[in-house]
Amino acid sequence: MKKIFAANWKLYKSPKQARDFLENFKFKLESSQRNSDQDKFKDKEIIIFPSSICLETVADKLLGSNIKFGSQNSYFKAEGAFTGEISAEVVKELGGQYVLLGHSERRNLFGETDELISQKVAFVQSLDLTPLLCIGELLTERESGQTNEVIERQLKLGLKNANPQKNLVIAYEPVWAIGTGKVATPHQVNETHGVIKNLLAQMKLKNTALLYGGSVKPENAKELISLDHVDGFLIGGASLEVDSFLKIINS
Ligand code: PGA
Repeated sequence: MKKIFAANWKLYKSPKQARDFLENFKFKLESSQRNSDQDKFKDKEIIIFPSSICLETVADKLLGSNIKFGSQNSYFKAEGAFTGEISAEVVKELGGQYVLLGHSERRNLFGETDELISQKVAFVQSLDLTPLLCIGELLTERESGQTNEVIERQLKLGLKNANPQKNLVIAYEPVWAIGTGKVATPHQVNETHGVIKNLLAQMKLKNTALLYGGSVKPENAKELISLDHVDGFLIGGASLEVDSFLKIINS
């Protein structure tokens, strides 16, 4: 399975900053590919999730490259009277292949429910785009021993309308580790990823890639990526700088 390195830019970067980033990133990525074993890069999938206003710029800049992109959210309808929403059909028209769904910021700041997320997952799959569904517990839930229960609920409800024949990626992001600099320990990551992989197998989704997210940095990437159940990363803060994102990819 290819290792996935996904950059979640959240509400950072203007179109100009996105363009500058990608020019520099593509240049440095190509030179690191030239200077190392080419095959190493064939096993890696790099995905950029810019804010929606930068999608077209990112699409232009990535035309003809192997780097993929997608939106950080989308509605479960292609068009209509839905002020402020993002159309996955337009993401597809721009050449996007992924949609990030159920990120903890969408759940906790914008009130997205598992029910709403499940409709979005199904719609994204119906367009043959890949949903990247985020799940993860709050600190209070971890401290009160509810992690597995929360994860099972988010997974089962979020995927209740999913099509097992279509592409899907899951990201486990403990909410207490997002943007806090407080990374989950390799033991915590592997243990929870093991639980998630078992649930996915029960749901006949055995070949689903499972990413870790939450304060992934160049300093901890190497150890985390070598864990049995980690198929890649969803990276926020450290994906905003070319050098730190590249260091993580090269870990
Ligand atoms: P972080 O964000 O890497 O800044 O913790 C991860 C995410 O929110 O996807």
